[in-house]
Amino acid sequence: MKRRSIISINDLSNAEIEGLFRVVSDLQQARKSTRQLDLCRGDILATLFYESSTRTRLSFESAMLRLGGQVISAPNALTTSSAAKGETIRDTVRVVQHYADVIVMRHFLDGATRVATEMVKTPIINGGDGSHEHPTQTLCDLYTMQKEFGGLEGIRVALCGDLKYGRTVHSLAIGLARFGARIICVAPPGFEMPGYMVRRLERDYACKVETYDRLDAVTSMPAAPPSENGASEETSTLFGDIISTLDVVYLTRVQKERLAEHDRTPAVESSYAMSAALLRRAKREAVILHPLPRQDELSYAIDHDRRAAYFRQAGNGVWVRMALLALVLGRIELPAGERAAAEPEPRRAPRLSRRKALLCGNAKCVSQHAEVEAGKYWATENETRLSCYYCDQEVDLPQPSHPDESQRTLLES
Ligand code: NCD
Repeated sequence: MKRRSIISINDLSNAEIEGLFRVVSDLQQARKSTRQLDLCRGDILATLFYESSTRTRLSFESAMLRLGGQVISAPNALTTSSAAKGETIRDTVRVVQHYADVIVMRHFLDGATRVATEMVKTPIINGGDGSHEHPTQTLCDLYTMQKEFGGLEGIRVALCGDLKYGRTVHSLAIGLARFGARIICVAPPGFEMPGYMVRRLERDYACKVETYDRLDAVTSMPAAPPSENGASEETSTLFGDIISTLDVVYLTRVQKERLAEHDRTPAVESSYAMSAALLRRAKREAVILHPLPRQDELSYAIDHDRRAAYFRQAGNGVWVRMALLALVLGRIELPAGERAAAEPEPRRAPRLSRRKALLCGNAKCVSQHAEVEAGKYWATENETRLSCYYCDQEVDLPQPSHPDESQRTLLES
């Protein structure tokens, strides 16, 4: 993983994620005997944040300091760095690469951190890019679930709230699908998981997503065989709350700063909020997670409940980020066998015959903002579909201009 940029959760393979979790345990052990670890002495982390942050920036900075490294920080990069004078991401990272060994960057445009990787060899870690991804939050989330349940395969995880604009749930859904967890999406109307994400989960990971618009929705269960005296047990066995079937409830706030003009803020209490009353109907061993900050979707009244794990989740973030920094800086290595099997498959960008005719349709994609060459795509589904190289949203292919030209030939030539 040395010098690897982490822009998407898919920049890490499953074996690497599991290896990283083992490094977390090693670091926790090591810190019991030595308060100050020296693994990254001499290394400098730069945090370049064009959007506000508490947990991501401070936990990365704390992680680097706990590893014996040093930190330089632009916490309000939009107003206090040269971005305020019109400097582009490309130029800024070209400069910052000389000041730091690793850069953690947060930006309001989808795909913006991918642009940074095109300009410099210094590893770039995505601290959240628009509504696109937040891979290191996902590492904290997966680590927390693994720690609470001992594994991820088969656990039922409800992703609740703003699944449209929330970046944490996009990376997390992919991570969960890759580890064989079951995904239940609970979103108010207008805030559902985007179609391109659901298609991706089904196509790439054979993950069947269940969807509801309320966390307290009633769901039909398989009918139980009639009891010996033939009495119907319909009321107790035919229907159940989805809440009582869940292992993890992962709540998110509405991303108000990203709403489009036509979006109507949903009424929280009627659909996906977690209250003390609702928690009473959850499993005794269920776990409630939230990337934080919270708003009305997560009641303060449940904080004392053992199942409320969001502050433990935030605390795990420092350890997970310590492991990640030590790995990308090459101060720790995964065991050799694990490493060989581990590398994620590189995604290949196809060449297009009519590249200029195609544009990413996502208005919040960095490719719409003049900093990058428009028309750079990933190929999916046997190269007959395209996803934007920067924001992963699907791009409509142009119609063939004459009958002999298929969409496939458009991509291949
Ligand atoms: C999240 C983010 O920034 O995407 N916060 C975080 O990093 N823990 C979630 C949010 O802001 O709602």
